[in-house]
Amino acid sequence: MALITLRQLLDHAAENNYGVPAFNINNMEQGLSIMRAAQACEAPVILQASRGARSYAGDVMLRHMVVALAEMFPRNHLVMHQDHGNNDATCLSAIRHGFTSVMMDGSLLEDMKTPASYDYNVEITRRVTMAAHAVGASVEGELGILGSLETGEAAEEDGSGAVGKLSQDQLLTDPDQALDFVARTKCDALAIACGTSHGAYKFSRKPDGDILSMETIRQIHNKLPNTHLVMHGSSSVPQELQDLINAHGGAMPQTYGVPVNEIERGILMGVRKVNIDTDCRMAMTGQFRKIANDMPNEFDPRKFMIPAMQELEDLCRDRFERFGTAGQTHKIKPVSMDEMAKRYASGALDPNIATTKVA
Ligand code: G3H
Ligand code: 13P
Ligand code: ZN
Repeated sequence: MALITLRQLLDHAAENNYGVPAFNINNMEQGLSIMRAAQACEAPVILQASRGARSYAGDVMLRHMVVALAEMFPRNHLVMHQDHGNNDATCLSAIRHGFTSVMMDGSLLEDMKTPASYDYNVEITRRVTMAAHAVGASVEGELGILGSLETGEAAEEDGSGAVGKLSQDQLLTDPDQALDFVARTKCDALAIACGTSHGAYKFSRKPDGDILSMETIRQIHNKLPNTHLVMHGSSSVPQELQDLINAHGGAMPQTYGVPVNEIERGILMGVRKVNIDTDCRMAMTGQFRKIANDMPNEFDPRKFMIPAMQELEDLCRDRFERFGTAGQTHKIKPVSMDEMAKRYASGALDPNIATTKVA
């Protein structure tokens, strides 16, 4: 069994200075494509399911899919992670269904629209972390709210995303508060806000430091050099995929994502988990549109899926290689969740926040 926890994987990534892409999955085709890429470049992998994915595919289907993928790709250690859990029930039911890691996103209230108070965030993240650690599962918390520094607005993804105008204070994680948050919640990884947002429409121009604040990441890493940072909204929204979609009947307005070289810079500054969904969607959709256009008499879904899966596999391979994840899987000796639970109980895995790096 190649299922491991997020904490184990990110500890290894930090020790060896690499980042790990976390790809969202909703169906078998995405799961197979990502795992084929991981196998081809010997990478450990994080698969994550949103609440939307869980209701789309169903928990039973997702659970069996992950078990099947772990069996089919035994050399590729894999983490199964809940993306943007909104309350205790979402996170704990994910663990019950075999997820080895959860995100408790307390930056927003349960409705995933209303910005939450700091105290609310600390309390719910601390509570979920205590319960998850008791069974060895890992927890990612979020501090700061994802959204655009250009517009002060969050993108809406299937009904989730802050409503209303957000202030710069809300859109950029405060390093001192991050220190306090990790100490009080004991979460294993921290999602931060630095100007990225979900979906394709992140930036109206190629981002510079005014709208994508890598400086925020640097400051947080200086305060918390031993905390695994998570960058959400990390799709690069490749121009060639926008062009391919638009050349075959799509109507995506020109947009800009997070350049991959900025993510590589983030990895040097403590970013260990890099969330990517939109790029994967665009990779498949570009091929669906192309086949539909080029072969209007085609109606076998596999004829659409096969090139779409290849395009997704190629994209994932590129990210594994650029983030330094390639070649790492065989270096990891899996630790069971029971063993992780014992280590948490002994205090051995408490966040080490004692040191502050010299800038
Ligand atoms: O959190 C954002 C991911 O892209 C998940 O999106 O809720 O539409 O599955 P989703
Ligand atoms: P993108 O929309 O940039 O792919 O971000 C996905 C994400 O952060 C999932 O949690
Ligand atoms: Zn996200």
